[in-house]
Order: sequence, then structure tokens, then C-alpha cells
Amino acid sequence: MENNKRPESMARINNEKLANEFIAEQIQAIQKQVKDKKVLLALSGGVDSSVVAALLIKAIGKNLVCVHVNHGLLRKGEPEQVVEVFRNQMDANLVYVDAVDRFLDKLAGVAEPEKKRKIIGAEFIRVFEEEARKQDGIEFLAQGTIYPDILESGPVKAHHNVGGLPSDLKFELVEPLKFLFKDEVRVVGKALGLPDSMVYRQPFPGPGLGVRCLGAITRERLECVRESDAILREEFAKNGLEGKVWQYFTIVPDFKSVGVKDGKRSFEYPVILRAVNTIDAMTATVEDVPFALLLHITKRITSEVPGVNRVLYDLTPKPCGTIEWE
Ligand code: XMP
Repeated sequence: MENNKRPESMARINNEKLANEFIAEQIQAIQKQVKDKKVLLALSGGVDSSVVAALLIKAIGKNLVCVHVNHGLLRKGEPEQVVEVFRNQMDANLVYVDAVDRFLDKLAGVAEPEKKRKIIGAEFIRVFEEEARKQDGIEFLAQGTIYPDILESGPVKAHHNVGGLPSDLKFELVEPLKFLFKDEVRVVGKALGLPDSMVYRQPFPGPGLGVRCLGAITRERLECVRESDAILREEFAKNGLEGKVWQYFTIVPDFKSVGVKDGKRSFEYPVILRAVNTIDAMTATVEDVPFALLLHITKRITSEVPGVNRVLYDLTPKPCGTIEWE
């Protein structure tokens, strides 16, 4: 039986020195566990999988095979950043899978939120399985499991999507972060040299923008979500709200409203802005975003994002709303 309890003697990793000690210990432990064998990792670009990747690259170099699946539901610039940081800067063995058409074709016409989630999860496993079968000599699977996942104390990341591989692909697990809390993972990530935009990023749901493009996903509305989200993030960063607000994003519903653009009647989608603060995602309050900034973001989104003629700000705390809309 594997020990899944954090050792009581383990100090809270809250500075670079402790992070470097943890990194040195883990490198030794990983080398001892996997020896000269290959390890597979689903690298989403989120904090946990990125820190696991950086740690394993230090420990075993090219014997780590990272698979990044672009399912078309990532934020603007994310797949590019994964390739830039891991392949170009860290010289990792990275397999980039462009599965955008595959996911969007499977999701076409599916409006029910839980069905959408299931399709995204199942398709992810299928793509990952296909890539795993293409690789020779894999004996281990690395996962970015962290201590709250073991304690099951938070709904932020209820699972890692790599579960559910068929039984002939059952690899021994490598989980170097399994006793760390999120803040410790960030300190370790920083010490490993990962960029701040990766280490301090806000939580992002596994099904990604798929749960923010409400109802049946279309490429047109998905682009409205992605482009409006990029503008919101840019403006929050410029105005000192990045790192202060816990989670912020945009949502695009599947209905249109009438408006006026360039003196002509328009019939286009609204964009909903959401910005919330929370400790554990079980309850949340709405950020009091300065009104002038909301107006500025509205102006940018309606003039820069094709197909959008209105912007709304969601004032609902959790409860009675949830953080996401689906
Ligand atoms: P809700 O909407 O339930 O969200 O208030 C709470 C937190 O969980 C994230 N979330 C998800 N994360 N898969 C995930 O990995 C999901 O299906 C999912 N749904 C919600 C959400 O972004 C928020 O941080």
C-alpha cells in the first residue's frame, strides 16, 4: 500500500532554499525510481503538469516524453507557450498533438454541459492513448497530483485527465508533487526557472473554454470566447488586477441580440465578464472592478472581437451562482 500521507516532519516549502532542497531530493528519488527507463507525461501547460515536467527534465532529460494535446479549447497563446518553454527553452522531448478538428467535430451539436465534459475527457484519453502506443519502452506515467487532490478537499481540479487508460497501458506512477500544496508547487516552479505566467496562472478547468462557450460549441463563438478572454487578461494585467483576482474569464452564450454598429443594425453575440475571489472555490465573491475599466474593456471587446455587440458583467456570488456558467 502506497503511503499517501504527507510526512509530519516535512517543512512548508516557502522559500527558494527549501525549494532547491526539495528539487535535489526529488531528482535523486526520480532517478532511483525510473533508472534509464522512459516516462510519459500529459503536459497541459497548467501549473502542476508544468512543474512536474521541469522537474523530470532535470532528473532524466530526454527520457521524459511530454505529450501536449491541443484540443482547441485552450486560451489564446497557451499551446505556443508550451512549445516555446519546453521544446525551445528546456530542450524537452515534446510531442505536440494538434487535435483541434477532432475535438470540435466530436462536440458539434452537443449542447448539454455534462455531455460536453464527458466527450472532452474521453477524447483526451483516446488521443493520449494513441500517442502512448506510438512510443517504445515507456514504463512510467508522471502525473501532477498534488496534496489537495489526495485529500479531495477542493473542487478546483477534481481529477487528472490521464486516468482511464486501458489495462495494457497501466504504467507505474511518478508523482513527485503529491505531498505539496499549491503555493509550494509555485515556489518549486519558480526555483525551476519556469516563467511567472506559467507559475502564477489562475485556475483553468480541464474542459477549458468548452464550458465557457455555452451550449453547442461553434468555431465562431469559440473565437469570441478566446479573443475576449485575451483582452480581459491583457487589461487586468495592465491595471494591476492580475495576481490580485483569483479567477477571471469571459463567457459567450448561444443567443444573439440586436445592436447598432457603424450606423447599421447588428445582430450579434454578447460577451459576459466574470471576475471572482475565493479561498477554496466552494464559495466566491465578485471582484469590485473599477467601472471605468469595465467600460474600457467593453469598448475594446465590442470593437476588436468580430461578432460581438454587447458586454455584460456578472455580479453573482457563489452561491447562488457557480464560478463557471456550465
Ligand atoms: P464552479 O463552477 O463549480 O467551479 O464554481 C469551481 C472551480 O472549479 C473549476 N472547474 C473545473 N475544473 N474541470 C476542472 O478541472 C471541470 O470540469 C471544472 N468545472 C469547474 C472552475 O474553473 C473553478 O475554479
